[in-house]
Amino acid sequence: MDRGERLVSEKTLCIIKPDAVANNFVDQINEMIQSNGLLILKSKKTDISPEIARQFYAEHSEKPFFSDLVDFITSGPAVVQILEGDSCITNYRNLMGATNPKEAEEGTIRKKFAESISKNAVHGSDSPESAVREIEIMSALF
Ligand code: RTP
Ligand code: MG
Repeated sequence: MDRGERLVSEKTLCIIKPDAVANNFVDQINEMIQSNGLLILKSKKTDISPEIARQFYAEHSEKPFFSDLVDFITSGPAVVQILEGDSCITNYRNLMGATNPKEAEEGTIRKKFAESISKNAVHGSDSPESAVREIEIMSALF
């Protein structure tokens, strides 16, 4: 393999959101994650506090849906996970599918398990910088 083409092992932050936990989709989602070559390094079922939720979603604090987003992610138990693998930030985002499940492609987690743009089953870090920030915010869980 030429220089510059090496695959880089990365970590990303995954949340199985309260809708998917309540619907008992955790095992099926984790089977999809693992069968796509991603390692579940850590996993913790937890109630996310409003303080952590506001910090976690700070980039959306000015958006009209911010309070609904915080209310939803704190509405019941979620499963917070650290995934690891080659290019896993992008690979996991591709596996998740589009934010709005109506736009998600066949074979994606959101196509299969999301109910709506709010109750959309999973979260994944959207960049290496976000992954570092989000893993740090959730690090007290592990
Ligand atoms: P996530 O952060 O949860 O992985 O989702 P994402 O990157 O695909 O989408 P993002 O733009 O970061 O939005 C975060 C979450 O906010 C909710 N949302 N609602 N009502 C709306 O127009 C709207 N837009 C976004 C979604 O639940 C989304 O997952
Ligand atoms: Mg996002």
